[in-house]
Amino acid sequence: MAVDLLLGLQWGDEGKGKIVDVLTRDYDIIARFQGGPNAGHTLEFDGIKHVLRTIPSGIFHKKAMNVIGNGVVIDPVVFVKELEGLDQFNIDYKAKLIISRKAHLILPTHRLLDAASEASKGKAKIGSTLKGIGPTYMDKTGRNGMRIGDLELESWKEKYRHLADKHETMISFYNVDVQYDLDEMEVEFFEAVERLKELTFIDSEEYLNQAIKAGKTILAEGAQGSLLDIDFGTYPFVTSSNTTAAGACTGLGIAPNKVKEVYGIFKAYTTRVGSGPFPTELFDEVGAEMAKVGHEFGAVTGRPRRCGWLDLVALKYACQVNGVTQLNMMKGDVLSGFDSLQVCTAYEYKGETITHFPYNIEPENVTPIYTEFACWKEDLTKMTSAEQLPKELNEYIDFLEKELEVPIKIVSVGPDRTQTISR
Ligand code: GDP
Ligand code: IMO
Ligand code: MG
Repeated sequence: MAVDLLLGLQWGDEGKGKIVDVLTRDYDIIARFQGGPNAGHTLEFDGIKHVLRTIPSGIFHKKAMNVIGNGVVIDPVVFVKELEGLDQFNIDYKAKLIISRKAHLILPTHRLLDAASEASKGKAKIGSTLKGIGPTYMDKTGRNGMRIGDLELESWKEKYRHLADKHETMISFYNVDVQYDLDEMEVEFFEAVERLKELTFIDSEEYLNQAIKAGKTILAEGAQGSLLDIDFGTYPFVTSSNTTAAGACTGLGIAPNKVKEVYGIFKAYTTRVGSGPFPTELFDEVGAEMAKVGHEFGAVTGRPRRCGWLDLVALKYACQVNGVTQLNMMKGDVLSGFDSLQVCTAYEYKGETITHFPYNIEPENVTPIYTEFACWKEDLTKMTSAEQLPKELNEYIDFLEKELEVPIKIVSVGPDRTQTISR
């Protein structure tokens, strides 16, 4: 078996991009399977920081092939900007990046529909990244969408027009003030499509299954996190795709029995960007300190990320739904020097103590119950081996491993590729 999965276990931004980059040396192919430019995956090496949106995080390695799978939604405009970012570093993406014909296209009007939908919700808005993700997946499941493969047809612009016109009618139904100049947006879009067409479009499920047969190794890169999953996340404050393990099978055309390891990535604390419930959120100076030290600002929108303690009830749920076989703990360095640490091990839920993730986690239903830990004081960022990790950190890790029943194999101690400790 040759396919491993790498998934975020919280509300996104766990550090998936960094770890995919670190692991790429062990794989022949890196494949994104869902989401789109709502993702912002950060990689740091040689003193340079890169943020990828749709392009898999293996792109900086010479050897690996990068596949954008059928489950991904692509905005040509954002995609071309990403390519331009790679041009500066002489990355041969025409040779190392291939795109599924079955991936769906984000049209300019999808972005407008996203904005109109959010504006119409007022205070109840999702806090979407406004990249058109929801409306594009709605057109996909509604069987109206446009796919990458459509761009190979002579008549693709007719199909585009038909859909964009329909979207304009829908925008007017929302009855909100969304200002736009579609002509201008279309000039940019059509230019970007021409650049996109310079890349190779493939039947990626065939490519990947042949690669498996040939004994190649594949790492499937998830976007967002399990608590943003359309089915298992904190609905409706979620994204519009399956971010959990099963999404890798449908988003790449790989059968479940081909999957081996499932890497679960989590921060030593919790963050969330956008709206929705977050039981362990901190509104005090401790939360502000996490945000400051951890530079918790969205890689895509620059919005401040909400911060709070680690939530083991939620993490256990994510391990279960994904079948996580190995955990990677990120950003422990951010907590160095905190007076003490709290970990949520149960919820008080409607007068009862529960340890499973319930249907409702709004503040009126859920009060977190914490266990306290001593915090490490040492700076972790220069540490290079497991033997150097402080006693208090090892106690924290041991507790998490025991509770989650999954080993923590990587401890990340800084954003750089080299600040990664295996244990
Ligand atoms: P992703 O969406 O899961 O790929 O994560 P993001 O890139 O959105 O956010 C993670 C942020 O934390 C980025 O700015 C990373 O450079 C940074 N980062 C990753 N791992 C570590 C770590 O162990 N320590 C610190 N201090 N920063 C990290
Ligand atoms: P990566 O891959 C963190 C959040 C948005 C919003 C909700 C829905 O970098 O971890 P959408 O644009 O999908 O309609 O937004 O999901 N969200 C993310 N939060 N990291 C992400 O991606 C996210 N992608 C979407 O903030 O709350
Ligand atoms: Mg991110």
